[in-house]
Amino acid sequence: MSFTIAIDGPAAAGKGTISKAVAAHFGVGHLDTGLLYRAVGRRMLDGVEPIEAAQALVAEDLEAEGLRSPEVAQAASKVAVIPEVRAALVDFQRAYARRSGGAVLDGRDIGTVICPEAEAKLFVTASAEVRARRRFDELQAAGVEVDYDTVLAETRERDARDASRADAPLRPAEDAVIIDTSELDIAAAVARAVAAVDLRR
Ligand code: C5P
Repeated sequence: MSFTIAIDGPAAAGKGTISKAVAAHFGVGHLDTGLLYRAVGRRMLDGVEPIEAAQALVAEDLEAEGLRSPEVAQAASKVAVIPEVRAALVDFQRAYARRSGGAVLDGRDIGTVICPEAEAKLFVTASAEVRARRRFDELQAAGVEVDYDTVLAETRERDARDASRADAPLRPAEDAVIIDTSELDIAAAVARAVAAVDLRR
């Protein structure tokens, strides 16, 4: 039986960490769907036409170097507004969701568009300031030179683009459980997520 867990939310809300932990807890695979858009964004920065890049995407592209950089994040959110790019990435995501045993998919539109029938849906969020602070700390720890105000401005810019696009805008599914991690540590946030999924099993 397949059991799909959809985890959506804005950048740096803790979605990735929670998704990995939830997948490990239930012993299922995890697909970070942001990587698909990042891989297409990366190709666009290399001069490839984004729709063609999305149509040609293969699983190995998700392991390319440099997909986590802020530059690629901005490029990803730009290609993500193109309906043909989104359409080209649907089958890959749905095939992953149907893996036997179950799967966690995290992104922006998993519960609303990609897997509206998902058995469990979570929407992980936090204030823009808290998310920018976390991203800033991560980038600093990775040796990237950034200042907090720039990270905050980029966080807001990406949020606005993700929430306002016509095709698959960022919003919680009606039946999603909202987890605000602004005041939660990782263990507490993961515990809430696991408890919410358990209720649907
Ligand atoms: O989650 P991540 O920060 O890696 O996503 C990068 C960008 O990809 C997001 O800002 C968003 O524009 C886009 N994205 C999307 N739909 C998804 C996952 C990511 O539009 N399911």
